[in-house]
Amino acid sequence: MDFNELKPKVSDLVSNSSSLNKTLKDVCELLKYSVPYYDWVGFYFKNGEKKELKIGPYAGLATDHTIIPFGKGICGQVAVSSENLVVPDVNAQNNYIACSLNVKSEIVIPLFVNNINIGQIDVDSNTADPFTREDERFLEFVCESVASIM
Ligand code: SME
Repeated sequence: MDFNELKPKVSDLVSNSSSLNKTLKDVCELLKYSVPYYDWVGFYFKNGEKKELKIGPYAGLATDHTIIPFGKGICGQVAVSSENLVVPDVNAQNNYIACSLNVKSEIVIPLFVNNINIGQIDVDSNTADPFTREDERFLEFVCESVASIM
């Protein structure tokens, strides 16, 4: 399914939301099962006043990395920079937290509410270098959509 077909499905989930966590989980499942190279899709959010991220709803294998300090790994870097981070080859990244040995690449897009970086969507792929500008634009759309109900 291409991103133009997926966008209205994301919008439907968001506009019919009755529970934030269920909607976030449904969005993760939709993305994971619709995009062949999305092997793990999840949200991380700032953990209260702490300088760390806490895992939110996700689709894919359970991870040990439920708490990630700001600055650590791909996710922690985006918590600090508030900028998209696309990693075509995770083995070439020094500041990377491995969740599964199968993962080859990763993309993290920050999620803003009222211009404040409150979290992110994280996608891991078992395919090398699969992410393009289209993924960035699509995942920005996903973050903006879910931000509207937060
Ligand atoms: N690889 C991430 C950790 C989170 S897992 O991918 C689910 C990172 O380096 O921040």
